[in-house]
Amino acid sequence: MKMLQLKPKIFRFDSFADFSVFFKAGAGDLVLTNEFLHDSFLKPAAAGADFLFQEKYGAGEPSDSMIDEIRGEMKGKDYRRVIAVGGGSVIDIAKLLVLDAECSTLDLFERRAPLEKKRELIIIPTTCGTGSEVTNISIAEIKSKNTKMGLADDVLLADYAVLIPELVRGLPYRFFITSSIDALIHAIESYVSPKSNPYTELFSVKAIELILGGYTDLSENGPEYRLEIIEDFMTGSNFAGIAFGNTGVGAVHALSYPLGAACHVPHGEANYQFFTEVFRAYSRRNPEGKIKSLNSILAGILGVPEESDIYAELSRLLDRLLPRKPLKEYGMKEADIELYTDNVIKTQQRLLANNYADLSREEIRDIYKALY
Ligand SMILES: [Fe+2]
Repeated sequence: MKMLQLKPKIFRFDSFADFSVFFKAGAGDLVLTNEFLHDSFLKPAAAGADFLFQEKYGAGEPSDSMIDEIRGEMKGKDYRRVIAVGGGSVIDIAKLLVLDAECSTLDLFERRAPLEKKRELIIIPTTCGTGSEVTNISIAEIKSKNTKMGLADDVLLADYAVLIPELVRGLPYRFFITSSIDALIHAIESYVSPKSNPYTELFSVKAIELILGGYTDLSENGPEYRLEIIEDFMTGSNFAGIAFGNTGVGAVHALSYPLGAACHVPHGEANYQFFTEVFRAYSRRNPEGKIKSLNSILAGILGVPEESDIYAELSRLLDRLLPRKPLKEYGMKEADIELYTDNVIKTQQRLLANNYADLSREEIRDIYKALY
């Protein structure tokens, strides 16, 4: 059994300018980013590089047609490196831009063409959530199939993952919370995954301490305090990425996908809705397994006795930071409870295989019902 793989070299710089000098960013580089980042941080520091702005190719999370269009822009240009500076969407797209292929993006996702790497990839995340800078997976909406697909292959791994606090400090509070809750979920789903092992646990436990510990400080000191501890969240998110990149994530992610796709709820926010309810269901299924040591870690950080209702305590803390709302307020209909349940069982077996405990159709439906 493979225990741990970490391919990207990990760097940290105070500013994009420092990164740019060290990596000699410029001619021959394609930078995929967002315009506001370009204008504030990147433009003066990476003279000579070509820039593409993700939002010019469509709003929201990436689709295969959006990626086709961006790949089309690269025709006839001989870039040696792709530099992704952005959140999960920018990173997911950039992972496909290193490939040398004439075919459509759908062909790549369906593996009808060989995945051959042509360029180096540098990933600089600007949220503290995805951990995607250290994972080998790209997720895109496949328009013709009305669903999201993941392409996982080591050819998509970055050569360099670069953490630059300057770029994350401007993240608005709401995105800070939803992206870091996604990272916390990566760490926790990884910890209880059947593929978890002492190597991945090192990273997941430390990520839980950094992120959840940070939340308890935030709830005492107010939202602005996040700027003081932002680096803990960046490190935590990266550690969580290393952990789940090796073990996978499970039911929280699986149940969030239909809501995310149908109601256009951003990834972190969608995951947040299902987090504590899935872990309550796990606890009912198998209270004596790995979840017991998870609960004792969580109790320690939350400062509550181990025998208390940990997921009620956790919900209280998270809801203080950002209140959740019923799923119907996102546009979900009552009939969707059954539809989403069937959809998860049909399309998300890849993720459900990483569950701590098997969840039956009824249990999955009851989670949607309870949150509806
Ligand atoms: Fe996630």
